[in-house]
Amino acid sequence: MKQITTIGIIGGGQLGMMLCEAARELGYKTAVLDPAERPSAAYVCDHYVQGNFDDIAALRHLATLADVITYEFENIPYHIVQQLITEGAYIPQTEQPLYVTQHRLREKNAIRAANLPTAPFFAVQNYQQLISAFEQLGTPAILKTCFGGYDGKGQWRIESQTDAQQLQHLFDGTTAYVLEQRLLLAQEVSCVVTCSTNGDLQAFPLGENVHRNGILHYTTAPAQLPDSLAAQATQMAISLMQYLGFVGTLAVELFIDTNNQIYINELAPRPHNSGHHTIEACNVSQYANHIRAITGQPLIVPKLTSATLMLNIIGDEYHTLSQLFTKGHFHDYHKTVKPNRKMAHITFLGDDVASLKQQVGL
Ligand SMILES: Nc1ncnc2c1ncn2[C@@H]1O[C@H](COP(=O)(O)OP(=O)(O)O)[C@@H](O)[C@H]1O
Ligand SMILES: [Mg+2]
Repeated sequence: MKQITTIGIIGGGQLGMMLCEAARELGYKTAVLDPAERPSAAYVCDHYVQGNFDDIAALRHLATLADVITYEFENIPYHIVQQLITEGAYIPQTEQPLYVTQHRLREKNAIRAANLPTAPFFAVQNYQQLISAFEQLGTPAILKTCFGGYDGKGQWRIESQTDAQQLQHLFDGTTAYVLEQRLLLAQEVSCVVTCSTNGDLQAFPLGENVHRNGILHYTTAPAQLPDSLAAQATQMAISLMQYLGFVGTLAVELFIDTNNQIYINELAPRPHNSGHHTIEACNVSQYANHIRAITGQPLIVPKLTSATLMLNIIGDEYHTLSQLFTKGHFHDYHKTVKPNRKMAHITFLGDDVASLKQQVGL
């Protein structure tokens, strides 16, 4: 294999930014492609290419700058990645993780095929199917678009038959959905799993996630759950990665219901917001192990070195919570403030999760 000097990253958001930072620490140069004029990663990368994710000329330019290419965003058209590979670009992850995870139904079917639990769901293509799925699942339910949903967008909560009837306008014959049973959740956790091109596979300790308005508010670790449950959740994430055979990073979001049943919610084929704390609270970050994975290096066995709380700074909190910025490890994404936009995060380290929550006022 040719020597790797420069890592190409498709997508230049905060995940791309932190991948660049990890790559640099490991001695690599970085080249980033993103549609925005100056996204987060443009502040830290060595080469910046502005271009849409389906702009094959721009992607070819990225490929000339990079010895290996990865992605930080699952909604990149997978066929474009496939084409780049056909043209000789080295993308060890392939387009397969994008193909599976950018479509909610494909993703859920893959989890089922791996014999792992999901919340009961049905594919819904039209209004008749919605009503019939709703009759089988009962209330409460949640309708989700198959493509492009994130941070709670593209989701509709259904409490009654009337709610379901009011969603008729969504069905224009082109959009695909899944209807899911809404579970009574006790906790939400996530597990980041990394697999190197050499087959080395490692899982990070679980993070525990709290959402607000459908957006991740904060993550704490260690997750406050019995060891046996934590081991079971971690094993599910590892089994799924092994079943899928992906290279790179797979972030697995899991639900734990009030009966201690574990379900896999959704997947991301990239580092994840709920793994930001690994930069300071683990012996290796999710970003560093990802870079190691795609460059064929052995992975570091991840261990939590401190209790931690990672707080997302969302929208206007960039102003209202600025007094917290110097109290922890502050990561600025260099964005202009917009409602619901992830602007920055702060990672706090301490003796235990309870006192960290208290310190931050949560
Ligand atoms: N089936 C469900 N039962 C209970 N809560 C759910 C369910 N699906 C989603 N949620 C809640 O909504 C949040 C966002 O849903 P998710 O499927 O992860 O979509 P997104 O792509 O927006 O992250 C979850 O983290 C969880 O809090
Ligand atoms: Mg989610």
